[in-house]
This record gives sequence, structure tokens and C-alpha cells, in this order.
Amino acid sequence: MSTAIETVTTKNHGYSYQAALAASQKVNWRVEDIIGGDKRLDFSKPFMPESLARVKVLDFLSADEKRTLNQIRGNSYLCIFGVVEEFILPFVMDHARPQLRGDDYRVRALLQFASEEAKHIHLFKKFREEFESGFGINCSVIGPPEAIAQAVLAHDPLAVVLAILQIEWMTQQHYLDGMKDDQELDPQFKSLLKHHWMEEAQHARLDTLMVQALSEGRSRQEIEKAVEEYIEIGAFVDDGLHAQTQFDLEAFERATGRTLTASEREKFVEVQTQANLWTYLGSGMTHPKFQETLQRLLPEARERIEQIAPLFC
Ligand SMILES: [Fe+2]
Ligand SMILES: [Fe+2]
Repeated sequence: MSTAIETVTTKNHGYSYQAALAASQKVNWRVEDIIGGDKRLDFSKPFMPESLARVKVLDFLSADEKRTLNQIRGNSYLCIFGVVEEFILPFVMDHARPQLRGDDYRVRALLQFASEEAKHIHLFKKFREEFESGFGINCSVIGPPEAIAQAVLAHDPLAVVLAILQIEWMTQQHYLDGMKDDQELDPQFKSLLKHHWMEEAQHARLDTLMVQALSEGRSRQEIEKAVEEYIEIGAFVDDGLHAQTQFDLEAFERATGRTLTASEREKFVEVQTQANLWTYLGSGMTHPKFQETLQRLLPEARERIEQIAPLFC
């Protein structure tokens, strides 16, 4: 008995390499223009929107302590993006390389994408230096980036690109829905996120094109397997976020000189773990554009992710 191979289509998204390249060339900022010199972080203000930070519900913290925790979360946020982009960069280069003599717009758009991620990694490193010198203590972040990259890139490229797609749509939502109109946030921190968002908008479209390319000709079973591997990457990130919450707790206690009681610590870990899961997983898994791509890929894949997403919201 022969097995019918069902192929799927991920087209009809309306994106093109040419349009992404053109949009990217218009943005094109320099690291030196947005950080350093008189462009300094203002530690009297919060960095992260409350929708991601979720510090206000910790009613045993003073206003100053909530702001300190918010800033620790802001530092973790940019550092984790730096870590994530260290696997996006080689992934995009590997995806571009086999067809360097093909579609010129494809090659140029993907190399521009890789170059921008290298620039973002640079920006986030400079941010970390500035944060540590202004904040006064060293805050641990999960890593090392090479080990994380190795673990993620060991998966099926379709699973990896789904994870990347989710991450890049997520950054769009964080800036547009949480930061853009929040006047209380530090303008410098917002500026870094604004510039990052301006380039990530193109990346999310290019990721959609990469999902299309990497799914073409695959059977339903192969797509389902890749979606399961995408969920495995999510579980790996979930473990990392539990570790990050502990790092943030340690940094908070060192920065404030306050030792939380057992019950305060329990509440802190519960609320902040869920805040991290929402920030880095739930907000991406539920993003309408990510769901749209899953629907085009395989409707059952969208349903599968929709079912597990509430765990991260
Ligand atoms: Fe980036
Ligand atoms: Fe990106």
C-alpha cells in the first residue's frame, strides 16, 4: 500500500524579498547613533512595560524596589535577545548560502537580515556594559550563547525557523502594544527597542518566506514532526526562563540589600516565572501573524499550538 504524500502550501502571505530589502535599506541605523555619549539610561525610570514586567502585583515590594526589579527585567530582556540572535545569525547565513547564485533579491535580503542581527548583538552587548556601569551590580543572564545556539540549531531547520518567526513577531507586539505609547518608561531604553523593532519588522516577513521555503514539498507527517521539534525548542526555552527568574531574584536581593521571606520569595518566583513565560513564549505563540503562518502550514499545527499556549500566558 502506498502512502499518499500530502504537500502543503505556505504562500499567500504577500511578502517578498525585494520589498523586505527595500524597507530595510530605508531604516538602516548605526549602533553609534543610538547608544553611548549623551544617550544614557535613566535609572530613575522603569524600562519595561508593566504588561511584560508584572512587578506591581508584588505588593510586598516598595515603589523603588519595583522599579529596580523592572530594570533587572529590562536588562535580562535585551541580554536574552542578544543570546537568541546569536543563533538567528548563523541560521540565516546557512539558509542563504546554498543559493548564493539564485534570486539576487533573496541573497541580498537575507545577508542584510544577517548583518542586522550582527548589529543587534553588538548593540545589546553595548547596552549590557552601560547597564552594569549605571546599575552598579552584575546581573546574571542564561547562557553561554554558543551552548544555547548549539542546542537550538540541532533541530530540524523548519522547527528552528518557526521559533525564530515567533520571536520576531513577538518583538513587534512588545514594542507596539507595550512600549511605544508608555510615557513613563526611560526614553533611552525605549529608543533601543524602537530601533530594534524597525528592523525586526522586515525579519518577521523574511522568516515567513523561510518557513515557506523550508516547508515546500514536505509531507504532513514531516510538518507535524517539525512542529513537535518547535515545541521541544519551546520546552528548552521554558527551562532557561525558570533559571533566569532565579538569576533575577538573586540580582534583586543583591541590588536592594533585602532578603525576601520564604513566602515572598515563593510569590516572586511564581509571578516572575509566568511573566517571563508570557514575555518570551506566550506573546509569540498567540501572535496573530504567527498563528496565520501556522494555519497556512497546517491547520492542525495552529490548533496544537493554540492548545498549549495558555500555559505561557
Ligand atoms: Fe534583532
Ligand atoms: Fe531579528
